[in-house]
Amino acid sequence: MKKILVTGALGQIGSELITKLRSIYGDSNVIATDIRVDNQIAEQGPFELVDVTDEQRIFQVAKDYQVDTVMHLAALLSATAEKMPKRAWDINMGGLMNTLEVARELNLQFFTPSSIGAFGPSTPKDNTPQDTLQRPTTMYGVNKVSGELLCDYYFQRFGVDTRGVRFPGLISYVTPPGGGTTDYAVEIYYEAVNNKSYTSYIAEGTYMDMMFMPDALDAIVQLMEADPAKLIHRNAFNISAISAEPMDFARAIQAHIPEFNLTFNVDPIRQGIAESWPNRIDSSVATAEWGFKANYDIDRMTKEMLEKISSKVNL
Ligand SMILES: NC(=O)c1ccc[n+]([C@@H]2O[C@H](COP(=O)([O-])OP(=O)(O)OC[C@H]3O[C@@H](n4cnc5c(N)ncnc54)[C@H](O)[C@@H]3O)[C@@H](O)[C@H]2O)c1
Repeated sequence: MKKILVTGALGQIGSELITKLRSIYGDSNVIATDIRVDNQIAEQGPFELVDVTDEQRIFQVAKDYQVDTVMHLAALLSATAEKMPKRAWDINMGGLMNTLEVARELNLQFFTPSSIGAFGPSTPKDNTPQDTLQRPTTMYGVNKVSGELLCDYYFQRFGVDTRGVRFPGLISYVTPPGGGTTDYAVEIYYEAVNNKSYTSYIAEGTYMDMMFMPDALDAIVQLMEADPAKLIHRNAFNISAISAEPMDFARAIQAHIPEFNLTFNVDPIRQGIAESWPNRIDSSVATAEWGFKANYDIDRMTKEMLEKISSKVNL
């Protein structure tokens, strides 16, 4: 049985991951932490205020609850990091270093997500291999590549059981995304339900990898439970479910809302980030080493997104 501390637990991933982990390992075995409070998560099980730039505080909470695993989610995402690069470095690199140190000192299993943002313009864009050129041009990407290397280093040098994936853009209906480049692929569903139209800040024809949140949560649990003897790579496994551009979402939505209309007003900053990322990454190494498999394609995901958002709107 695991006892898990999660940082950045109130974000897009954490808010759903906490519920899933509590259903598997028990409410009292999952300690949610963030720099702000959410009553629902706090009522369900243990919650503590933890700023990941404060190593002592992470150490104290991990020790007090006698956790054996840390899942480190606290970060500034790609578009936000581009607005405040110095702050992004401090939180993304400082926070990662601090949680890795706590994992080393207390001998904890460790998970943190990298991202498709760890790739750059010189990376092969189609079927992007697991091991390839990584020269990202964003602060977020610089942080993510450094983070991947740092996690490998902590395993090789200190034997910390670090594991991680490169998530694509994650699509969900519970908590809004926190300032990433793929946020359009969430907004488009809310606008489809509320206004039957959407203006995309990403240009037509710009492909990026995406995944529905239930597949992302399954991947985290599966990787953390995987037999370590089978892991050749430990950190930064490529995983993806869908490669799509804005018109693909429009077509999938029109199957349910025929009058849905998509227009474009491209944001040069986020478009620039999107163009520096792959079109479609190759997840076959994750499948071979720990059995990664996505269950949702764009049509199945679209049906569920529209149903869930409509039921929220009609409450
Ligand atoms: N959501 C995606 O599409 C996606 C894709 C690839 C990778 N990732 C990665 O997954 C992780 C989690 O992403 P998310 O989408 O849940 O992010 P999010 O922005 O939705 O949530 C981040 C959380 O971290 C908290 N936080 C910010 N600064 C903090 C600090 N100093 N100390 C403690 N908590 C702090 C915020 O309050 C927030 O609740 C990040 O590492 C991100 O880079 C996310």
